[in-house]
Amino acid sequence: MGHYLVTGAAGFIGARTSQMLIEQGHTVVGIDNMNNAYDPRMKEHRLKKLQALDGFQFIRDDISERGIINRHSAIVDRKFDGVINLAARAGVRYSVEDPWVFLESNVTGTLNMLEICRQHGCRKFVLASTSSIYGANPPYPTPETASSSEPMQPYAASKKGAEAIAHSYHHLYDIDVTVVRYFTVYGPAGRPDLAMFRFVKWITEGEPVRIYGDGQQSRGFTYVDDIARGTIAALKPLGYEIINLGGHEVVTINGLVEMIEELTGKQAKVQYGPPNLADMFTNQADVSKAREMLGWNPQVNLREGIANLIAWYNEEREWAKEVLTL
Ligand SMILES: NC(=O)c1ccc[n+]([C@@H]2O[C@H](COP(=O)([O-])OP(=O)(O)OC[C@H]3O[C@@H](n4cnc5c(N)ncnc54)[C@H](O)[C@@H]3O)[C@@H](O)[C@H]2O)c1
Repeated sequence: MGHYLVTGAAGFIGARTSQMLIEQGHTVVGIDNMNNAYDPRMKEHRLKKLQALDGFQFIRDDISERGIINRHSAIVDRKFDGVINLAARAGVRYSVEDPWVFLESNVTGTLNMLEICRQHGCRKFVLASTSSIYGANPPYPTPETASSSEPMQPYAASKKGAEAIAHSYHHLYDIDVTVVRYFTVYGPAGRPDLAMFRFVKWITEGEPVRIYGDGQQSRGFTYVDDIARGTIAALKPLGYEIINLGGHEVVTINGLVEMIEELTGKQAKVQYGPPNLADMFTNQADVSKAREMLGWNPQVNLREGIANLIAWYNEEREWAKEVLTL
């Protein structure tokens, strides 16, 4: 069985990926700095579940600090079969306010994780990237060959930098790299700074549902379990490949609100505001490469996935209703 390093392990995708690896019989060292980019109670909730599992070891540290490469025995003493680098500052809008922190975590952090591979003999690196990298006017559905050279915000630019530094380590040190470009991911214990969690909370609690623009913008959504499965499949040796993951089921923001209204049986109090210039109007992935190379087939459709998120919210409602959705 394998031994893996997962960064961003208390994060939305990292927690589910770590859990799935452990369920498959692997062991996981998880790193997270538990920052407050969004309400840390969500991270603590996910981490607590992981820490109850045999085979999970946690390091609280910052991947952007160079010292992380050598200061933990769990990193230095036992060779990893793969590093899955999910830790990042995520979020298009906040990257406009504080680009520095995005460059530190996403570029320097990726460099440090590649150095862990180089210095400690790990041959496989999986890097989380983003659909935001495709800029303003890609073809839809977007294939991996679409231009990623015109990022619209520091977030996308930082992921481009991370992909590029990973490529250079592949070239120089023959580290096998798979870049997975995620589209919009959702599911139980999802990020409270993203639409899906906020809408479920706001509609359930009868709070106003704030929408940027007229709600006609759309997103290709993918359930977190499908993303975790694809991320784990990306651990296989491939050389250097960039693979879209998710974003195949497209719905408008208004359509999403309607679906949540139906599934919760509650009516949304929608408030439309000005559009956000850092946002893309739509995204939709061409996932044929993921199907061919990873044998990836998403299994959870949008309705079922949202129902799971609502069920999770209702179970955790006592504390989840207090989670900040700024
Ligand atoms: N959720 C999506 O829809 C989506 C879409 C595209 C790309 N991504 C990418 O997928 C990855 C995981 O995203 P997520 O949605 O789980 O986000 P998340 O914010 O829930 O998870 C990221 C985790 O990394 C940790 N982290 C951030 N900077 C760190 C640092 N310097 N050192 C240590 N830990 C640090 C955070 O505390 C957090 O727990 C990210 O790289 C993100 O850019 C996510």
